[in-house]
Amino acid sequence: MNIVVVKDNVEGGQKGYEIFKQAVDNGAKVFGLATGSTPITTYDQITASDLDFSDKTSINLDEYVGLGPDAPQSYHYFMNEHFFSKKPFAQSYVPDGLNLDAMNETERYDKIIADNPIDLQILGLGRNGHIGFNEPGTDPESTTHKVKLTESTIEANARFFDNEEDVPRYAYSMGIASIMKSKHILLEAYGAEKADAIQRMVQGPITTDVPASFLQNHPDVTIIVDEAAASKLK
Ligand code: F6R
Repeated sequence: MNIVVVKDNVEGGQKGYEIFKQAVDNGAKVFGLATGSTPITTYDQITASDLDFSDKTSINLDEYVGLGPDAPQSYHYFMNEHFFSKKPFAQSYVPDGLNLDAMNETERYDKIIADNPIDLQILGLGRNGHIGFNEPGTDPESTTHKVKLTESTIEANARFFDNEEDVPRYAYSMGIASIMKSKHILLEAYGAEKADAIQRMVQGPITTDVPASFLQNHPDVTIIVDEAAASKLK
């Protein structure tokens, strides 16, 4: 794993942008995208740049079950706001939270990923070591699946809803195996609350207790962390 320590998420966003640009320059056609607060500075730099995605494809990691693109808390809405409205792709895929037929939706999404192999996947990191919505205990062989969210994730996401009861309890997420198929992975993490997860992901055993630890098995991972998130690395 290639670890880049930055001062803050603004510098991290600049580095994230550079990695994205390099991928574009090297011919990358398919970008795996994440939501959450972490990648926003990278997306801001990308959308303010002259990078052109009009012949490229994006595939998002996950979406809440029950929310569609018009719901302000949906991940599709987030992507429209922070990325797609400013820099459109030729084609953007986000799991369809309004498709309540989980078998149908997860198979549909796996086919999209198989037909569009991801060149660069951007990830954030949960405080419990999750990537996408792959919570501790997720099978490393998992492909797209319906997930029951953990209490810690519901709590962390409650800030986006009027109250905790409104946070959806299920999500569709690419699996760990889907993520591992990406050619290059860029994971960003900022803030002291991510320090434990970063330490366990990078230096701990590879275990389903820390889903991100499987990234140790990937040949091309770059991690951008600020000093607070890096503070527990030995
Ligand atoms: C979002 C996602 C999640 C987040 C993670 C960190 O699409 O897949 O795994 O990356 O929960 O969230 P933030 O960035 O809000 O700390």
